[in-house]
Amino acid sequence: MSFSKYLIKKPIHQIQQESEKGELKRTLSAANLVSLGIGCIIGAGIFVMTGQAAAQYAGPAIILSFVIAGLCCAFAGLCYAELASMLPVSGSAYSYSYASLGELFAWIMGWLLLLEYGVAASTVAVGWSGYLVSFLGNFGIVIPVWLTTPTLELDLTTHTITNTGGFNLPAMLGILAMTWLLVTGVKESATVNNVIVAVKLTVVLLFVAIGIFHVNPENWTPFIPENTGVDGQYGWSGILRGAGVVFFAYVGFEAVSTAAQEARNPKRDVPIGILGSLLVCTVLYMLVALVLTGLVPYDTLNVPDPIAKAVDAIQLPWLSFLIKIGAIAGLTSVMMVLLYGQTRIFYTMARDGLMPPAFAKVHPKYQTPWINTILVGSIIGVVAATTPISILGDLVSLGTLTAFAIICFTVLYLRKKEPNMARPFTVPFSPYFPILGILFCAYLIFGLLSNPVTVQFYIVYLAIGVAVYFAYSCKHSKLRAAQ
Ligand code: ALA
Repeated sequence: MSFSKYLIKKPIHQIQQESEKGELKRTLSAANLVSLGIGCIIGAGIFVMTGQAAAQYAGPAIILSFVIAGLCCAFAGLCYAELASMLPVSGSAYSYSYASLGELFAWIMGWLLLLEYGVAASTVAVGWSGYLVSFLGNFGIVIPVWLTTPTLELDLTTHTITNTGGFNLPAMLGILAMTWLLVTGVKESATVNNVIVAVKLTVVLLFVAIGIFHVNPENWTPFIPENTGVDGQYGWSGILRGAGVVFFAYVGFEAVSTAAQEARNPKRDVPIGILGSLLVCTVLYMLVALVLTGLVPYDTLNVPDPIAKAVDAIQLPWLSFLIKIGAIAGLTSVMMVLLYGQTRIFYTMARDGLMPPAFAKVHPKYQTPWINTILVGSIIGVVAATTPISILGDLVSLGTLTAFAIICFTVLYLRKKEPNMARPFTVPFSPYFPILGILFCAYLIFGLLSNPVTVQFYIVYLAIGVAVYFAYSCKHSKLRAAQ
């Protein structure tokens, strides 16, 4: 028995046929795709984690962290665009891996996507809860602190986890509400997405345009605070650590590739959608980071609603109020899209036999994978209520960076193995750009290693994934059964 049986590949034409069964209409233009990308990208990363990462790791130099993370995403985004143009199919990274590197890699990719979508949904829910609690506070509605605090707490200096006795109830309720909507078949339409994107962009631009006039340049010195002696706390290692954290703010751009089947001209528009949304977000993020760290001393930003707090400090309550509304609306939609993506990935994996068939069972009335959605939503809800954003965000970044590195590698692999396959979009300067993508991912993962707790979680998580593959998935794989 050879190991190669675990690397069985799904023929590309089969993936294409399966994707075509859905008969989706090709209605999305390049502008719709950019909007779709921005809809998934702008979320807890900019509204919450930028402030916290500036306070804990990088200071005002968090702007440099955004440049590093943005470059990493640009290289990975180019690789996504090449694969999406070659294989405009559903399932995105999971399907690309199944067709190229083989089943074991496809499984690992699916397992990593659970971090990129499922755990990311929990992370966004925690951010959403922070802004909601703050918003309710404006009306004198105060929720007891223990009902808005995660059960676990991570000490960044001693790297120990303690039990706070709390439970972040709003975060869990937010996820459960999205779960209910998804079970009943409510999906965010392109129009609703466009409206929410407009609201998000408006509050972010207002923050920059008004905030810039209240900046106190003294808050930018020292631009790179001196390292405290602890790896990752300020100094260059802090900038790198910060890059790993704010990388979360970019997660979601590859959702554009999952819409390849609904794009009018996928070969041209998908790359425009991916790179266009990345570019818009990078510029916005750098501006927000600049203004945010200029408004208040960076060490005051470790709060659940940093952007609103910074605006409070300059006595503009109406703007702070608007920002909270924008953040709540924006984060609701990101939460929904991530949860939706997670259920559909498990659905595709279940149809391939790699997950139990219940995950592909469709509700007779609502036509949605309801068991899958309820199970996934309940688990993600409990994770959101118990785990702090610092652990969740790092796990998402670690998983997504690994997935991106595999995507960059897949481009190199297919160029060698399938040199004649049609590539409507090609990564420029290959093999250098895909290699740079892998190196950037490795560099950011290296930065995240200064938090050993999440790294240990991550290694155990990967080990469980591999064990599940050998104990269940490989035995139930439909592709292998058909051989
Ligand atoms: N990039 C998304 C966010 O920041 C996941 O919420």
